[in-house]
Amino acid sequence: MTNFKASQNSWGLIAKIFHWLLAILLIWQIFTGINLHNMEFSPAKIGFIGIHKIIGTFIFTLVVFRLIWKFFNSKPNTSSLPKFHRYASNTIHSLLYALVIWIPLQGTMMTQAGGFDVKLFGIITIPKFIETNFEMYPAYVQFHYQSMIALIVVFGIHLSAGLYHRFINKDKYRVWNRMSFWGKD
Ligand code: HEM
Ligand code: HEM
Repeated sequence: MTNFKASQNSWGLIAKIFHWLLAILLIWQIFTGINLHNMEFSPAKIGFIGIHKIIGTFIFTLVVFRLIWKFFNSKPNTSSLPKFHRYASNTIHSLLYALVIWIPLQGTMMTQAGGFDVKLFGIITIPKFIETNFEMYPAYVQFHYQSMIALIVVFGIHLSAGLYHRFINKDKYRVWNRMSFWGKD
């Protein structure tokens, strides 16, 4: 059984649960976001936006808890990775964190600018920190969409790197092993 905390060759069970749960939710959010982008305004769209906001605020909460856990967790030993790989992956991980914090915050500002409430998990109303501004709303929506495109690009690099290490490099540096539920500590 994997340790809760990180060890030499593993990020630890808690970090893995955060990682894979977020991966699933983000993939869902990206696909449904693309769908929203292509939908005409309709009662069905309003329903989808409701679900989108619940999942979006849940993603934000998970990222916050994940970062708090990261602060208390130790780190696996990545020193066997060539220097370039180490810098590149640290940069990509930081960008991923920045984007998954930024997009829900921007989505919240956008929603409030549109004159709507944002409720955490659809239950707790978040105080309004952006004035209603209908004129600016379309620009907010466009920026929300562009931020997601940035996430897709960075996520695409991260995913390709993960698969490269797993299948082409035969996990020589234990990159996959560190995040896999079946990996060895
Ligand atoms: C990582 C999380 C998120 C992703 C990837 C994401 C992505 C998207 C995308 C791609 C769209 C379609 C935009 C368009 O029509 O061009 C959208 C729409 C929307 N999002 Fe998000 N979103 C996220 C989180 C949130 C959050 C936390 C909120 C607010 C609580 C939010 C509120 C909305 C609203 C209200 C719309 C509908 C905009 C409209 O068509 O009027 N989103 N989202
Ligand atoms: C299905 C898609 C995904 C795969 C196959 C994957 C794979 C991996 C692997 C193998 C590692 C370990 C890297 C190492 O130890 O050197 C890792 C770490 C990491 N992944 Fe992913 N990942 C995926 C989705 C995501 C998504 C959507 C995010 C967005 C937040 C993300 C964020 C991270 C971060 C920040 C780390 C560094 C460890 C940490 O801070 O917890 N991953 N990923």
